Amino acid sequence: MWYNTKVAELLKIDYPILQGPFGGNFSSVELVAIVSNMGGLGGYGAYTLSPQELFAVNNKIKAATNKPYNINLWVSDTDAPNGMITDEQYEMVVKVFKPYFEEVGIGLPEKPAPFKSKYENQVQVILDIRPKLFSFVFGIPSADVLEQCHKHGILTAGSATTLDEALALEAAGVDMIIASGFEAGGHRPSFLAAAESSTTGTFVLLQLIKEKVKTPVIAAGGIANGKAVAAALALGADAAQIGTAFLATDESNATAMHKQMLFSDAAKYTSLSRAFTGRLGRGITSRIAKDLMHKENSFLPFPLQSQFMSQLKKAAIELEKWDMILFWSGQIAPALKHTKAAELMRSILEETTAYFDHLKI
Ligand SMILES: Cc1cc2nc3c(=O)[nH]c(=O)nc-3n(C[C@H](O)[C@H](O)[C@H](O)COP(=O)(O)O)c2cc1C
Repeated sequence: MWYNTKVAELLKIDYPILQGPFGGNFSSVELVAIVSNMGGLGGYGAYTLSPQELFAVNNKIKAATNKPYNINLWVSDTDAPNGMITDEQYEMVVKVFKPYFEEVGIGLPEKPAPFKSKYENQVQVILDIRPKLFSFVFGIPSADVLEQCHKHGILTAGSATTLDEALALEAAGVDMIIASGFEAGGHRPSFLAAAESSTTGTFVLLQLIKEKVKTPVIAAGGIANGKAVAAALALGADAAQIGTAFLATDESNATAMHKQMLFSDAAKYTSLSRAFTGRLGRGITSRIAKDLMHKENSFLPFPLQSQFMSQLKKAAIELEKWDMILFWSGQIAPALKHTKAAELMRSILEETTAYFDHLKI
């Protein structure tokens, strides 16, 4: 049967369907539990959480499901040397963004305080709580961490946006590789070359990786229904990871306006921009992303650009200036149909099964 893949076997799940983890407070315990309880693998994006918060979330997930689930971290969570920026960088970003702060009638933010990476402490919690899967982006954990995961029975999955990154993940001995195509919503998790030059689409990336890599591959980006799952499996994927379609459901932690935008005409237009966080990410094209294309050198490094933008975001929401907000979205949003996570999951399973039945596979 189509669902008996290497990834399903490794993770001990019924169906090789992963709900993509959402960092930055978009994940919810409820969504993780629905997907895991229905035989897929729910995922929680935890990169902004403190160790205490991570323990608490894990306890809640455990109370909501006794099935396997995934916790996700960012191996590299800042691009600022020592987490700091210079006065010159601050002056540059102020110059570019001043008109937007004026437009919403608030003062300019002060120079963002230095950012302290959370990853090292978070990963110790992962080793303690031992989720079935620890998935990560923006790099590869140390050999020591990977070895400890293997020792504790935690499976590992790293994201690749290029064949080179997949080869590096395989050489490090991760259990699964997520082929993250450029259609996907959220940040481009590139870690070898610049994200701007790592923009291969899911189905090309998947095929390139399958040619050279033996580690099981999970396809991510642009998959939102059973037909696309079947297409990914036909190209050699051992599972599909679905993000935007689950983000749009009632059970995700995205705001009601965000969900409304995902189902609106505006979702026909998405683009990659660094303007909101400092790292390249895909969302519904906003006025700010459009205006500031090619001004990337004036933005602050991740995550200080997010810090700099936080009050602007708050004010824009209060004033309902939606074209100034980044609504994360993948390219597939206009094809979304479901607002309930369980219905989405059921429909993906039925459609994939129908497709393979039709082919008599
Ligand atoms: C709002 C948002 C936040 C995301 N955060 C993370 C994250 O923290 N870690 C991660 O591995 N992937 C993250 N992703 C990627 C998803 O897990 C998934 O791989 C991707 O959305 C799949 O592509 P699709 O959106 O076309 O379905 C995020 C995606 C979105 C839309």
